Amino acid sequence: MNSITVRTPATIANVGPGYDVFGLALKKPYDTITITKAKKTKITIKGIGKDDIPVDPELNTAGVVAKEMINQPLHIKLNKGIPSGSGLGSSAASAAGTVYAINKLFNLKHPTKKLIKQAARGEEVAAGETHSDNVAPAITGGFTIIKPNKNKKENKIHTTTPKPFKIVVVTPEHTTMTREARKTIPSKITLNQAKQNIYSASLITQGIIQGDIKKIGEGMQDTIAEPIRAQKIPGYKQAKQKALQKGAYGVTISGSGPTTIAVGPNPKKIGKTIQKTYKKHNINSKLTITQPGQGTTQTK
Ligand code: HSE
Repeated sequence: MNSITVRTPATIANVGPGYDVFGLALKKPYDTITITKAKKTKITIKGIGKDDIPVDPELNTAGVVAKEMINQPLHIKLNKGIPSGSGLGSSAASAAGTVYAINKLFNLKHPTKKLIKQAARGEEVAAGETHSDNVAPAITGGFTIIKPNKNKKENKIHTTTPKPFKIVVVTPEHTTMTREARKTIPSKITLNQAKQNIYSASLITQGIIQGDIKKIGEGMQDTIAEPIRAQKIPGYKQAKQKALQKGAYGVTISGSGPTTIAVGPNPKKIGKTIQKTYKKHNINSKLTITQPGQGTTQTK
């Protein structure tokens, strides 16, 4: 085998209360990655935001993880369907798809845990710190719970395949630098914040297992990252308020934003309401109604 093509999904990190712990793979959007054995390492990029993503293998998450995984020049072709800087795990998808593809192409037989760890190295390049809540679901699919990991040795991951439900995904046209957005998160929280987040995290997990969107929506409430990040996303607070008025069960930020996610009984109405509110702030956005999806898969 000289070449392989894989498809890697967008992912929602945190899913509200699970900062650096929860991740959810989506059915769409997704990236397609083709890796071919070559004489010289090269990255070429097509698709959404191609001009904003570095092709230098030292700076691109795909190039970084490929180099650390195997000593072999490769041509990595990224066809981006996931907008970068949107909070939908675009750089994670590049890294996750690449490690998955290399593992298959060279028959390395690395276990999933190891692939996640290798892909997370790409996130270190992109965000300055390792966090696996995008790369894990990008590889395994479904809803993932990752043990927070300071010493980087262990990589405990628990994956659930959620019952299908609709997720509203609104992506404003501006971008967020995850590296900067992470610096704003407090290193200490109050007991009450901890209690609230434990409640939310438990509820959302139960909701996902039961396919209960009311519980999923209520469980999206976060007291740690979202309130701080909300201040930096123009129009977000208003969009959230309007969506809740229109019946959304929950609204939060995907990863470090600015993508806004919601669940509720009328996804299209909720999505349009969020878009309309952003538009009032002169912000164009893209609406996608999607659902939980599978992880990286080989397509060719
Ligand atoms: N958990 C990470 C964060 C995800 O919120 O910073 C970044 O995509």
